[in-house]
Amino acid sequence: MKEITELLRQTIQEAGEVLREGFMSSDGSYERKDALELVTKWDMQSEQIIRERILGVFPSHAIYGEEGGGVLTDEGWLWIVDPLDGTTNFIHRHPYFCVSIGCYKDGMPVAGGVYAPISNELFLAERGGGAYKNGVKMRVSAVSELNLALFVTGYPYKREGKIERAKTLLTNALTSVQCIRRMGSAALDLCYTANGVFDIYIEFDLRPWDVAAGALILKEAGGMISLCSGEDFRLDRGEVFASNGVLHSLAIANLLMGVS
Ligand code: IPD
Ligand code: CA
Ligand code: CA
Repeated sequence: MKEITELLRQTIQEAGEVLREGFMSSDGSYERKDALELVTKWDMQSEQIIRERILGVFPSHAIYGEEGGGVLTDEGWLWIVDPLDGTTNFIHRHPYFCVSIGCYKDGMPVAGGVYAPISNELFLAERGGGAYKNGVKMRVSAVSELNLALFVTGYPYKREGKIERAKTLLTNALTSVQCIRRMGSAALDLCYTANGVFDIYIEFDLRPWDVAAGALILKEAGGMISLCSGEDFRLDRGEVFASNGVLHSLAIANLLMGVS
């Protein structure tokens, strides 16, 4: 376990350094993956380093990464990698972005790491071992009233057919929570919920690499994560309903009214 966590720590920090240099270089170049989805050479470089480091230590392990591909499987060791979560922020020179790596064994999370290189925030968790930010144990917030909750959400790049759902969720939130944020990195949104900054985080149309590490980090900090139905969270369903736990059922009842 120690070997895995140490590798995770070193690898996300090294990849984070690549992103930090890219961010500081002011080279705003990118390519389009799709109409609204952009990718930079630093997404690629970060994933290349991550693959080299992990396979250098564990050549038999599998990797499933946003840029390099792979297969999401419930068998054996699988490292799920988002080499740059928050690419839109990165390109627009907003510092809220990170590297995210989740390590899974037979479909179960073993360890997760998220590193935001500009703010130098390193989030790490081992299953059953708690969650830490820069070495300090984290705990979700104790907010128990919806009208005191800071709610964070996000929107997909492909929005066709999804605007009504977003509007309904936003309307529900505007009439129930204290305030709303859209930050731009799903992995960090989960870590900030784990750290008690946000109280509720809901998003649809995510990919496994967006949440593989953050889901474990949140749970290890005492938070709850589920599907919108309240059923057990699954990486392959794309939706995340995360909270400090105290607010979970209240938030499901109030924020999801009419959301389909
Ligand atoms: C995106 C971010 C964003 C979320 C998008 C993701 P990317 O990841 O996590 O917060 O709303 O759905 O695709 O493209 O920056 O790796
Ligand atoms: Ca992502
Ligand atoms: Ca990404």
